[in-house]
Amino acid sequence: MQYRQLGKWGLRISTVGLGSYLTIGMHVDDDTAAECVKTAFDGGINWIDTANAYNKGGAEIALGKILKDYDRDDYVLATKAWAPMGDGPNDRGLSAKHVFEQCHASLARLQMDYIDLYQCHRPDPDTPLEETIRIMDDLARAGKILYWGVSEWPAALIQEACDLARAMGCRPPVSNQPRYSLMYRDNEAEVYPACLHNGVGNVVFSPLAHGVLTGKYEPGQPVPAGTRAADDTQNSIMMNMYWGDKNLQRVAQMKEMAGDLGLTCAQLAMAWCLLHPAVTSVISGVTRVSQLEDNLGAADATIPADVAEKLDEMFSAEQAWTP
Ligand SMILES: NC(=O)c1ccc[n+]([C@@H]2O[C@H](COP(=O)([O-])OP(=O)(O)OC[C@H]3O[C@@H](n4cnc5c(N)ncnc54)[C@H](OP(=O)(O)O)[C@@H]3O)[C@@H](O)[C@H]2O)c1
Repeated sequence: MQYRQLGKWGLRISTVGLGSYLTIGMHVDDDTAAECVKTAFDGGINWIDTANAYNKGGAEIALGKILKDYDRDDYVLATKAWAPMGDGPNDRGLSAKHVFEQCHASLARLQMDYIDLYQCHRPDPDTPLEETIRIMDDLARAGKILYWGVSEWPAALIQEACDLARAMGCRPPVSNQPRYSLMYRDNEAEVYPACLHNGVGNVVFSPLAHGVLTGKYEPGQPVPAGTRAADDTQNSIMMNMYWGDKNLQRVAQMKEMAGDLGLTCAQLAMAWCLLHPAVTSVISGVTRVSQLEDNLGAADATIPADVAEKLDEMFSAEQAWTP
C-alpha cells in the first residue's frame, strides 16, 4: 500500500480507500461488510468513506458496529452532510443548523467522538458560504471534526471557499471528492488545477464507472446476475452515464492491455486515476471481499508511460461522455 498526504495537509491516507455507497449497511450483509473492513485494514487501507445519506444513516450505523473492534487511532473516518435526511425545511443543505445537527447525528450512528474528515456532499446555493465555513470551523474547535472538505464542488467555489476561509481566519477545506475515472474526466480542466493551486487533495469516487471498467460486462453478452448493472434499483447512474457498446468495446481492449501488464482491468483503471498529481486516493466500493482483494492491487501497480498514453487516447476527455 502507498500513502499520500491529503493535498498539502498533514493527514496521510492510503491511495485506496474503502467506500460504502449502496454496499455496507445496504446491499452487503453485515458479516461480509465486516470481512471487507478487515480485508481493507489488513491490506493497508487506512481510511473509510461514508455519508449520512447512504441508506439514510444505515451505512454509518453498520460501520459504527464494525469499527468498534478497531483502535480509533488506526483509521481515518470520512463522512458527509447535505443530502435530505427528513422532510423538514432544515433537514438538508449546508446551513449551520443542519450541519451541526447532522454532525452529532453521524457521531451517534458511528459511535465515535470525532469525525476525521467532514465533507459537504454537494454545494448549497441557498446558504452563504461564510455560514458553512464558520460552522465547520466551530465543529473543529469543539473537537467534533478534524478536517472538512467538499464533494463535486466546481473550481470557482473551491477557490472562493479557500479565500474566504483565510479571510475569516477559519480552516479552509482540505479535500474535494469528485467523480473521476477513465470514463469521466471533466475535473481535469478546472477543478484539479484549482485544487493543486490551493493544496486541496482529491479523493475520487466511482473510479470503476460503477463496475463497467472492471471488464466484467462484455459487449454483446448478457449482463451477469448479481451485479450492479443487473439491478434496476441500483443501475440508473451507470446506465445513463457509462453503458453502451462503444464503452464496453473500449474496456474489452483495455482488459487485454491490463493482462499484458499482469494486472486486472480494475487495477489498471484505479491505478490510472492515481497518476494525476491532483488525486490523493481512489475510493473502492465493493460487494465482495474478492473484489477488494483485486482492487487493493491498484495501489502498487505501475503503468508504463506508453500504456498511459494509449489509455489517454482511448478514453480522451472529449470521448469520455460518449457511450
Ligand atoms: N461523493 C459522492 O457523491 C459519491 C458518489 C458515489 C460514490 N461515492 C463514494 O465512492 C465509493 C465508490 O463509488 P462507486 O461504488 O460508484 O465505485 P466504483 O468503483 O465505480 O463501483 C463499485 C462497484 O463496482 C463493482 N466492483 C468493484 N470492484 C470490482 C471488481 N474488482 N470486480 C468486479 N466488480 C467490481 C461492485 O458492484 P457489483 O458487485 O454490485 O457489480 C462495486 O460495488 C462509494 O462507496 C462511496 O463511498 C461518493
